[in-house]
Amino acid sequence: MLRHIIVPEDLTAHEIEAVFAISEDLETKYEAGLREPLFPGRVLGLVFEKPSLRTRVSFEAAMVHLGGAAVFLGDETGFSSSRESVADFGRVLSEYVDVIVCRSKAHETISTLAAVSSVPVINGLSDYCHPCQALADLYTLRCHVGRLAGLTLTFVGDGNNVARSLAVACGLLGMRFVLAAPEGFQFDDGFRRHLKAILPHADIEETTDPVAAVKGTACVYTDVWTSMGQEKERAHREKVLKPYQVNAALMRHCPNALFMHCLPARRGEEVTDDVIDGPNSVIVEEAANRMHVQKGLLAWLLGHQG
Ligand code: CP
Ligand code: NVA
Repeated sequence: MLRHIIVPEDLTAHEIEAVFAISEDLETKYEAGLREPLFPGRVLGLVFEKPSLRTRVSFEAAMVHLGGAAVFLGDETGFSSSRESVADFGRVLSEYVDVIVCRSKAHETISTLAAVSSVPVINGLSDYCHPCQALADLYTLRCHVGRLAGLTLTFVGDGNNVARSLAVACGLLGMRFVLAAPEGFQFDDGFRRHLKAILPHADIEETTDPVAAVKGTACVYTDVWTSMGQEKERAHREKVLKPYQVNAALMRHCPNALFMHCLPARRGEEVTDDVIDGPNSVIVEEAANRMHVQKGLLAWLLGHQG
């Protein structure tokens, strides 16, 4: 059956565990110098409407490690411009490649692409969510704590695409998710209803109090206050989100918690240097795991059983 990974809930908990197991196996082999060519001749197409370092390069490297090739398609292809429809683009592209990763401005663009594609489509970030990021984050956390179920992940800042993905992924894996954000930057009612519908028993909380939110947490997570596409709102966002900066004073309330950030970071805004460069920060490992987990995801989607 053709599978697309457009939102985190496109995978079940069981499937996430299967992806993690493959990722772990391939990571161990990679660390030992072995790049198993599981998919020679297979081609990954990356269609990106926004800038990227981590998502682009980690997917490209992962596909090359697997023995395949990656083709990056930026603005010059005319994707979602007036050159041709997204549907025509997707129908044709999926004749050439075996799997597609798309980073789009509007989430609907990825859904449209997936609806017409004859090969798996993976969301490489949209304004709505960033499922590959959440998978790599929980894989990273698991490497540190062993077992995820019952632990808390606290997201401090804007309840954005990354926060929504983490809320769902935590819910799927039996974790508690807490969002500490000011009014207006918490989840909207539509997303809250969606969470209730897909994860009726999940422990997902929202608060305006960052100190209460981080107490007892396993991980403090933050992201930029102004996501790509929201630049016109920057001044307002900086003002309202300022009390939600992750700094040493906040981290003193959870001295054992790991610090995570999807990157890129705006140091001195959502997080201070001492925290992001501090002993509890795992940001580089988290970014490195994007490659390992996406390699696992690609292998799983292309039929590798592990
Ligand atoms: N975290 C992340 O997705 O980074 P890029 O925007 O650089 O891909
Ligand atoms: N929330 C950020 C994440 C970047 C990886 C954005 O959408 O710009």
